This record gives sequence, C-alpha cells and structure tokens, in this order.
Amino acid sequence: MNDHSFGFRTRALHAGTPPDPTTGARAMPIYLTSSFVFDSTEHAAELFALRTYGNIYSRIGNPTVAAFEERMASLEGGLGAVAFASGLAAQLAAVLCVAESGDHIVATASLYGGTVTQFTVTLKRMGIACTLVPGDDPRAIEAAILPNTKLVYTETIGNPTGNVADLEALANIAHAHGLPLVVDNTFASPALCRPIEFGADIVTHSATKFIGGHGTVIAGVLVESGKFPWGAGKHPLLSQPSPGYHDMNFAETFGEYALLMRARVEVLRDVGAALSPMNAFMLLQGLETLPLRMAAHVENARIVANFLRGRDEVSWVKYAELANSPYRTLAAKYLPLGAGAIFTFGLRGGREAGRAFIEALELWSHLANVGDGKSLVIHPASTTHQQLGDEEMLVSGVSPDMVRLSVGREDPSDLLWDLENGLRAATAAAAKSGATV
Ligand SMILES: Cc1ncc(COP(=O)(O)O)c(C=O)c1O
Repeated sequence: MNDHSFGFRTRALHAGTPPDPTTGARAMPIYLTSSFVFDSTEHAAELFALRTYGNIYSRIGNPTVAAFEERMASLEGGLGAVAFASGLAAQLAAVLCVAESGDHIVATASLYGGTVTQFTVTLKRMGIACTLVPGDDPRAIEAAILPNTKLVYTETIGNPTGNVADLEALANIAHAHGLPLVVDNTFASPALCRPIEFGADIVTHSATKFIGGHGTVIAGVLVESGKFPWGAGKHPLLSQPSPGYHDMNFAETFGEYALLMRARVEVLRDVGAALSPMNAFMLLQGLETLPLRMAAHVENARIVANFLRGRDEVSWVKYAELANSPYRTLAAKYLPLGAGAIFTFGLRGGREAGRAFIEALELWSHLANVGDGKSLVIHPASTTHQQLGDEEMLVSGVSPDMVRLSVGREDPSDLLWDLENGLRAATAAAAKSGATV
C-alpha cells in the first residue's frame, strides 16, 4: 500500500490502527498497563539508552496512546506526535522543548485565557518571558522578536475573538529569524485546516475539543512537521549535549526526530502529564468521525451566525465567513471548508440582558468548553478570561457584552428555537433594568 496515498476520511478511520497483530482485534485494544516486561537485561538497557524502539513505562509511551499519536500525525501531515494529558500540557511541552530560563517567546495576543496566563505568569516564573502582540499585522510580530526569542506562537482561529491567523506570513517571518512557528489548531481541527501545509513547524491541540468531540475527555497533543532545522544552533536545548539524558545531543542523534524525541523522553518524562490509554481510545473513536462531524458543525454554525446577524437584539456577530468580517479572505485561504463552529456575538442591553439570555437557554449548555457535539454557550469576560486584567482582556479582544457560542450538531431549527427564547428573555430583562435593546 506504500505507493498509494490515502484520503483524509480514510486516515481518520485507519491511521495508526492496523488489526492487532496478537489477537486480531479490529478495534484498537486499550493497553491499560503502567509498564512493560523486558525480554532481557540487555533489551532493557537498549530501551533506556534509546538504541532500540519499544515500550518501557506508560508515562513515556503506550501502544494505545501511540496509535492516537500516529493518527494525529497523519491527519495533520506531520512526521510524528506526542500526546499529553491536556492541551495546556501539550503547549507547555512545545515551549519547554526549545526554551529555558532567560529565553523569550512571541505570541499573538488573542489566545485562550488559560494560554495567556500560562505564558505571561507561569512561564515568567520559570524565567521565560513572553511578548503578546495585539492585532493581526505580522510585521508587529516580527518587531517583537528578540535575540533570545525561541518560537512564534498563534492560534489558527483565536479563542474567543475568531480572528484567523495569516499562517503563511507568520511562518515566513519566524523562519527568516531561525524560529519555529507553533500553531494551536484546536478551533479548526485538521479537518478544516492543516497548518503544516502553510509552513507551521509544530501544531498543538486541546484534543478535549473537536478531536474527542463528545465532551468526555481532557487531552492534548503536539504534532511536528519534521522540517525544522533543530541543529542549526538557535536552539541549544536540541543542538547541545543534554544533562537530562546522559549528555545526548538530540539533533545529532535523531535528526528530524530531535524535537519529538526530546518532547517524549525529557519533557513528558519530567513534567509527567501523560495521556491515559483509556482516554487515547476515546480520542481514536472521536477521530473516526472527525471529518463528518466538522462538516455538520460548520453547516449549523453558518445557520446560527446568519440568524443572529439579522436580529435587532444583537449588536455584532464575529464569524469569519460573514460578508463584513475582516477575516473573510484569510478564512477562504486557510479554512476553505468552513471557518469552524465557535464564534462570538454582542448582546445589546448590558450585563442583565446577557445573564437573562444565558439563563433562558434550555438546549444550549452553559459551561466552560467548546467543540462538543452538543451546543454550548458562555460569557468569556466573567469566566474563561476572568483572570485577565482589564487591559489584557481588551488586548485579548474580550468585551463585556461578548457571548461565545460553540455550535453543535443538533437540528438547527431546535437551536434557533432556543436562541429565540433567549433573545426574548434578554429583551425583557433589559427593559426591566432600563437599558435599551
Ligand atoms: C484554543 C485552546 N487551546 C488550548 C486550550 C487548553 O486545553 P485543555 O483544556 O485541554 O488543557 C483550550 C481550552 O479551552 C483552548 O480553547
């Protein structure tokens, strides 16, 4: 089958999971074991020295987790992948693979609130500085690059503002400075965008969202293109001997696998945020239907965005496919199958209207997640982005009137029925509090 390249839907079902060679099981077995028996003392020593491939201990690698990693690498078009216990763990690993105390990273500012605090508070405590660059001008990113910068970071579709990153422009700038572009592709999923095709070097995911797809699992994954020159000298953690692995030089020893190997045998080993085999199995189930689910999500998102755009109670809708979106051209280039299913809108009538709207909804669940098959709603300023200061919140693009929707796959008429009830409640609340709608 080596001379045939399989399509996305086929790989979503098959990549990483041939029939089990021992039992013939067609579904991926769940290898729920902490550790693996060595053939001999010699075999054990070879495994620990990374001279032979195999399983040692499930914090570092596990066959069910490996199947999920292989499928993700295949769908994103990367060389390989390393899975983690959460999206935040995966992106932390991406940073820790290339940066240490005294280093610096550059990121676009419109990011998931948890990423903003991870980058600006936790990394800072570890001695790694982060510059968040507001706006969409790639030249502003370039201007923020310092001699000690180790990577450029963005989200394909920003959470929650819905801005679409100019991936090719960002990759060109990063590469011109000898830096990798890291892209959090959570909101698009590989079914809608594959950042590596546009020059990204590392892709991370909160697999908690569309990858799992059922709101059941917390998980993350890092995929690497295999194209970045890690040995060029700009990233000594990969091109110099590492005291963390008996002075191994990862770039010299593993070539294009340098980052993936360090992510696993040093960062995952030491941070310890390993994905459980049970959750890897759930994610494999989710991936089987990813392309079908994303098409249905996009179809419903378009219906809901157009419904809200026509309503007097709604002051604005930010969905990248709408005619008035500043991201329409970028969405057409990077997200030709659809601009995802998570977007925001502004509700007239102030805080009371917002509260009444969310409380009146019955079908849309009010909770802190996105990318579930079920439709979800939240008010970012008082929840996901609450820990940001006023200025950070503004820079992240979060306004007090903003409501974020994650459009699920229910019958669209039911979603609109529920929204209609919510808007009616918002109007009544606003009238009561004296606000104009
Ligand atoms: C865009 C984005 N990236 C990363 C994360 C973090 O992922 P996790 O919650 O799986 O750690 C989230 C979580 O909401 C997210 O929305």
